[in-house]
Amino acid sequence: MNLISYFRSIFFAGFVTSTSLLASTLNITFPAGFHKGVANSAYQAGGHNLVWHKNSTSFLSNWHYFENQSYRFSAKNPLPFKRSPIDRGQKVGNSVDFWNQAIEDIKLIKELKCTSYRFSIEWSELEQTQGVWNEEAFAFYDKLIEELLKNNIEPMVTLYHWVHPFWFHQKGGFEKAENIPYFVTYCKKVFERFGSKVKLWCTINEPTIIAGCGYIMARHAPGYSFQFGLAGEVLKNLFNAHVEVYKALKAMPHGKEVQIGIVHQMLQFEGFDPEHDTCAIVRFCHSLIGGSVAKAMNFIFAHKVFMEFFKTGKFSYTVPFPWSVSVQTFNPDAPSSNDFIGLNFYSRVAVGMTGPTCQNHEYMTDMPYAGRPETLYDAIKEIATLKRPIYITENGAPDGLDKNRSHFIINYIKFVKQALEEGFDVRGYYYWTLMDNFEWDNGYDQFFGLYHVDRKTQKRTLRPGSHYYRDHVLLTRS
Ligand code: BGC
Repeated sequence: MNLISYFRSIFFAGFVTSTSLLASTLNITFPAGFHKGVANSAYQAGGHNLVWHKNSTSFLSNWHYFENQSYRFSAKNPLPFKRSPIDRGQKVGNSVDFWNQAIEDIKLIKELKCTSYRFSIEWSELEQTQGVWNEEAFAFYDKLIEELLKNNIEPMVTLYHWVHPFWFHQKGGFEKAENIPYFVTYCKKVFERFGSKVKLWCTINEPTIIAGCGYIMARHAPGYSFQFGLAGEVLKNLFNAHVEVYKALKAMPHGKEVQIGIVHQMLQFEGFDPEHDTCAIVRFCHSLIGGSVAKAMNFIFAHKVFMEFFKTGKFSYTVPFPWSVSVQTFNPDAPSSNDFIGLNFYSRVAVGMTGPTCQNHEYMTDMPYAGRPETLYDAIKEIATLKRPIYITENGAPDGLDKNRSHFIINYIKFVKQALEEGFDVRGYYYWTLMDNFEWDNGYDQFFGLYHVDRKTQKRTLRPGSHYYRDHVLLTRS
């Protein structure tokens, strides 16, 4: 070997070692059995309105009805202006055509090296008319579940992701306690069909968001504002509905073999406290205005009400004057009604005097909330006080330019790993979401997807920022 090739071999050996070292320091490896997953929901991805509306002249669901309103502020919202409840008047349409592409999309989940997929089953298509069960829709889910299992991807089913049949809406939906049995019947019907195949079941997605965004902030169906009394009733009924479903499914064949849990969005706010060089007056304004808004938002999103109910069975929702609302109840079965808790978490939102904001070293996502990875660790720690295994059922960032996605993924998942190493019983992490889809009142204007979708051609493309999830979030082989 001459001198030049000697130095060259040393140089390249060093180069190879340092790049592979760099790559391996980026790796986050979870133990075998931990689920690396992706999540989505039927309404957001499916375009089910298009599939089923052909058979009917009425609306299919609460959301189908809601997106066709021309007033965000209806009878219960006496504000003067006229507009669609969805930004830019958008409608879900055929979305990302999940109905036709689901089986092909399993390949995308595999490409990400995921071991589990969280999706929702859509009540409004299974029981479009009360008491009439749609076999074609059941067959769709049958095929999807079979195909996932064939590919060694564990299905995690959500029974209710915010959308219910229009007939249920007309009866008052979850505003009325006497409607809970309709929901239980639907859940039993689904479990009868899939209970032997699906091991992970989520009952209701984010009851506190349904109550807060649907009844106080007029952002989601049914689009009411400041209806605190109804919000309290709906929250109570959703919690009790979860408990009823849990008990009913546990009593059915296979009930004891599966895990059933509720999914909670721990949406919390805090007053912004700037770290650097701000004058005392600015600091004071942040803490006064941001702090008060944060307090009100924490109240609206009722995290404490959730924790108390599932710890003790006590439901207490009170709103002071001028609303003077008090919804109280006690459900002794609540503390034992979860085999796991599904934690949806995006960020703890820091509110300054002009709205959500962040420190200099942080960044805003498009929503806007800030990327604050350590707050996921705090959330895990707090939800663990319910003393149940935890699945992170949603976490992700809307990032149309794909500027921060990989950064977000690396740093948030690092904290999941840290929590696991410290002994917290975290069993899985599901990135929200597999591909861009209908982001509720934001329509198609937010881009949470690991895959970008061209909705004209339905072509899916893995975003560069998502490569990190595919290549560096790993599972030890069993
Ligand atoms: C919901 C999803 C939604 C996501 C991002 C969660 O609260 O479960 O349906 O798309 O947040 O906003």
